[in-house]
Amino acid sequence: MGKDFLEGRTAVVTGSTRGIGYAIAAALCGSGATVVISGRSEDGVSEAVRRLTTPLAGGAKGKVLGKVADVRASTDVEELFEWMDRETDGPDILVNNAGIGLFKSTAELTVEEWQRTLETNLSGAFYCSRAALARFKNRGGGYIINMGSLAGRDAFAGGAAYNASKFGLTGFTEAMLLDHRHDNVRVTHIMPGSVDTGFSGGSARADWKIAPEDIGEIVLMLLGMPERTLVSRVEVRPSKPRK
Ligand SMILES: NC(=O)c1ccc[n+]([C@@H]2O[C@H](COP(=O)([O-])OP(=O)(O)OC[C@H]3O[C@@H](n4cnc5c(N)ncnc54)[C@H](OP(=O)(O)O)[C@@H]3O)[C@@H](O)[C@H]2O)c1
Repeated sequence: MGKDFLEGRTAVVTGSTRGIGYAIAAALCGSGATVVISGRSEDGVSEAVRRLTTPLAGGAKGKVLGKVADVRASTDVEELFEWMDRETDGPDILVNNAGIGLFKSTAELTVEEWQRTLETNLSGAFYCSRAALARFKNRGGGYIINMGSLAGRDAFAGGAAYNASKFGLTGFTEAMLLDHRHDNVRVTHIMPGSVDTGFSGGSARADWKIAPEDIGEIVLMLLGMPERTLVSRVEVRPSKPRK
């Protein structure tokens, strides 16, 4: 895989103002892709674009653009993709990464918290995938990577809303793969354990967790696979979790 192996390709990463999404965006532009940063606030998006462009990820050739979009709103998502139609040649790669974590027992969850979690983590991925698939037709194919979680396989107390959203994403991702594999569309589900970000209000850095940059590396590895081969699911966890 050459340093600029994604040159000429356009990627959109939802929820890329910080954390895992930001690290994926950095990896993609470091490999020559044009990358669209997205998140809910103008400040968050412009700050991430500024950080990524100065200096441009180790001098790679990629370009970084930014557009505000709340993935819960299908109209925002349509506007994001229509904007990309005008501003870029893509998309070729969609990373459905935007997500929130609300951890409460079922009885404590409010209806609004339930809906917010499902709409962000599950419906948002559908809206973006639908918009990307329509465009992949004209591009001759594409790649969708969904950021799930081991919480999409293993339930835990306090995870009712989060588990429901990520189990839902597991089913959605696998069905989408089967729907579109013959249209030159590859779909991969990345399911990480604990990643060292500020997710769900966490702030303390923890050396034992997966680094967000490691997820960026995994994304590059997936995109570098020969087209005949599809890695459908990647489970990734800390090597030495806290005891
Ligand atoms: N950290 C972990 O341990 C872990 C483990 C497994 C899976 N994951 C998954 O990885 C993904 C990223 O998590 P992270 O740890 O990087 O979290 P994070 O640091 O909190 O970042 C979340 C990103 O999502 C964006 N976002 C949130 N709601 C959004 C919405 N409605 N529309 C658009 N963007 C939205 C945020 O941007 P704005 O606030 O600027 O909108 C931010 O860029 C999530 O799907 C999460 O479930 C995380």
